[in-house]
Amino acid sequence: MSKPRILFCASEVYPFAKSGGLADVAYSLPRALCTSYTIEVVLPLYQCIDRKAFGIELLDVQSEVKMGGISYPVSLYGCLYEGVAYRFIYSPLLCDRAFLYGPPDSGYDDNALRYGIFSYAVVNLLKKEAYSLVHLNDWQSALISLLIKEDISIQTKSVFTIHNLAYQGIFPHKALRELGLDESYFSMESLEFYGQINLMKAGIAYADRITTVSPTYAKEILTPEFGCGLEGFLDFHRHKLSGIVNGIDTEHFSPLQDKALVVPYTDLRGKAVNKRAFLKHTALKESKRPLFVFVGRFASQKGLDLLIEVLPKMAQLECSVALLGDGESKYHEALNALSKAYENIDVAYGYDEELSHRMYAAADFFLMPSLFEPCGLAQLIAMRYGVLPIVHHVGGLVDTVQDYATFDAKSAKGYGVVFSEPKADTFLKALDDALALYADKRRYNTIAKHNLRCDFSWKESAKSYIEIYETLRQESSNE
Ligand code: ADP
Ligand code: GLC
Repeated sequence: MSKPRILFCASEVYPFAKSGGLADVAYSLPRALCTSYTIEVVLPLYQCIDRKAFGIELLDVQSEVKMGGISYPVSLYGCLYEGVAYRFIYSPLLCDRAFLYGPPDSGYDDNALRYGIFSYAVVNLLKKEAYSLVHLNDWQSALISLLIKEDISIQTKSVFTIHNLAYQGIFPHKALRELGLDESYFSMESLEFYGQINLMKAGIAYADRITTVSPTYAKEILTPEFGCGLEGFLDFHRHKLSGIVNGIDTEHFSPLQDKALVVPYTDLRGKAVNKRAFLKHTALKESKRPLFVFVGRFASQKGLDLLIEVLPKMAQLECSVALLGDGESKYHEALNALSKAYENIDVAYGYDEELSHRMYAAADFFLMPSLFEPCGLAQLIAMRYGVLPIVHHVGGLVDTVQDYATFDAKSAKGYGVVFSEPKADTFLKALDDALALYADKRRYNTIAKHNLRCDFSWKESAKSYIEIYETLRQESSNE
């Protein structure tokens, strides 16, 4: 019997286009599901994607998408990569840009139109091909759930995953007409949001199931503190909502198979070789001191203000700090000044997948003082590489990192240093605790080795997605 066919839509997918964790999930979750389903992944064919290198070919001659009385040309491309079939939507307005969503400090003004084209093109695909389910991710593909609900010729059920409620796709009222939607959608039950339109609301209102990327975040987003103004709306739809913690692809993130490392490793001796090699390439030469690493977006979410506040004090401690990131220019500037002022702080700018792997392999501790964190993958990657993350007790960090004081060798969970409030004194206390732990070599090594052996794969979470998919397929066949 042939496997059920599923279309997985995302605005970024590793290794084609990546700005953060969504790309990792859109790469690794379909791979974890492909023994149970024939799963195809669809994304925009951005100009940064190397068509030749991936063997991306034209599948369907140019057609068009009509929105608000205007026609936009669209073509469908495809390729097979590591056994998974990828579909790409190409339209000049959507794809021919220097950045995925906009320059570092802002989004493109016409993002509603761009992802409108993407959404209508995906709906055309759903009309042509027999998919039993479509899995949508974040606001960029949220409109698809509305479009398929309103088209009686499409029976496909939809799952909508919220990776980050802070990015909702909010646009002026006039975008409604540009998207070919009539005024009836400008209501509180639908897309209206304080006089504007909100595309995230389309996914919440019209998808058959809503998931988010950790159980703790699923609870948090129902509160004013984390709900970003949508807590009431989410509460109304909470019967459809569940939290499933992310996994990582443990082959791609594997200290034993990672080609970016100077030596592959399965123990702390091999890890130490990687630390020394990494330090040689930075201004940080001292390898006996603990190395604290940060890899991530330079954004307020990631606790950058707190980090910048604490770094001058951290620089006085017996440690080295290496940061890699991309993002808001105010953070670039502040970090640049700090790395100039202190010899034990090193900052690398930009997006560099290989360097990030070398940094995970080199680190003793990984800094994650996020103000909020839907799930977080960086702490999972860090633990997979035998690192202890230092995390604020929030969102997915609560579900994935246990405090070292409660260490239990039999636990399947990873351990790090957990602090309760995103404030300078609590963060500094956690850093002091980390240094004391590092000085207790036996204890530190036991925990680092434990993390190295833990399973951070999709194994368990894929089962939860399968459960949702199967319930929906059952509902569909009962209709
Ligand atoms: P978010 O999705 O909020 O940015 P996650 O922790 O879920 O955070 O995922 C971030 C992913 O992006 C990880 O794979 C991390 O290693 C990677 N990453 C973030 N910034 C960079 C960078 N500047 N260079 C390389 N990889 C990065
Ligand atoms: C978002 C969140 C992050 C999550 C990632 C993948 O970017 O900020 O916490 O891990 O999506 O789901």
